Amino acid sequence: MTLPAFHGPTPADMRRVMGRFTTGVAVVSAEHADGAACAMTISSLTSISLEPPILLVSLTHGSRTTEAVETSGRFAVSVLGARQEALARRFATRGGARFEGVPYDASASGLPLIQESLAQLECRMHAAHDIGDHRVVYGEVTDMRWRDGAGLVFYSGRFGDFRDFGHDELPWLF
Ligand SMILES: Cc1cc2nc3c(=O)[nH]c(=O)nc-3n(C[C@H](O)[C@H](O)[C@H](O)COP(=O)(O)O)c2cc1C
Repeated sequence: MTLPAFHGPTPADMRRVMGRFTTGVAVVSAEHADGAACAMTISSLTSISLEPPILLVSLTHGSRTTEAVETSGRFAVSVLGARQEALARRFATRGGARFEGVPYDASASGLPLIQESLAQLECRMHAAHDIGDHRVVYGEVTDMRWRDGAGLVFYSGRFGDFRDFGHDELPWLF
């Protein structure tokens, strides 16, 4: 199928075009200065360095979670599994007590990590900078654990799950 003509980006088109890049889905949590836990759904999780272990999350300005990460210098990440779409939606919806009724574990420093997620990590802020309308935060991973299972996937504004082609794992990566 042929692509339409090129055109300059609008914010809505930027969202649409980047939606063609399939991602996983995670929840970032942090403790706000008022002591409350806050969290939001993200797809911007990226592995940056293995040694030292550093990842990146890009967090929108004006979010309580962004503020909490910034002021506490610490955050936790729960990578969601295919059965956790409802949580992905809940943690992306403004207002309401996001953790109400959600089973969670506590990280080493007491941050909430969503139970039954595929992976749980705790990070200390390594660096951060403003890029456009987001705060890009690099976190040094201090603790992690994971399990096998199908990952929740986000593509073109919709959730799905990951199914592999049944080929061998790439030996140099795993
Ligand atoms: C699948 C998905 C991925 C998202 N990824 C990000 C992200 O990487 N960064 C971000 O700032 N917001 C992202 N959002 C939007 C936030 O989850 C949403 O704006 C949330 O309400 C912000 O939290 P707040 O209410 O504390 O401001 C994503 C939403 C969804 C549904």
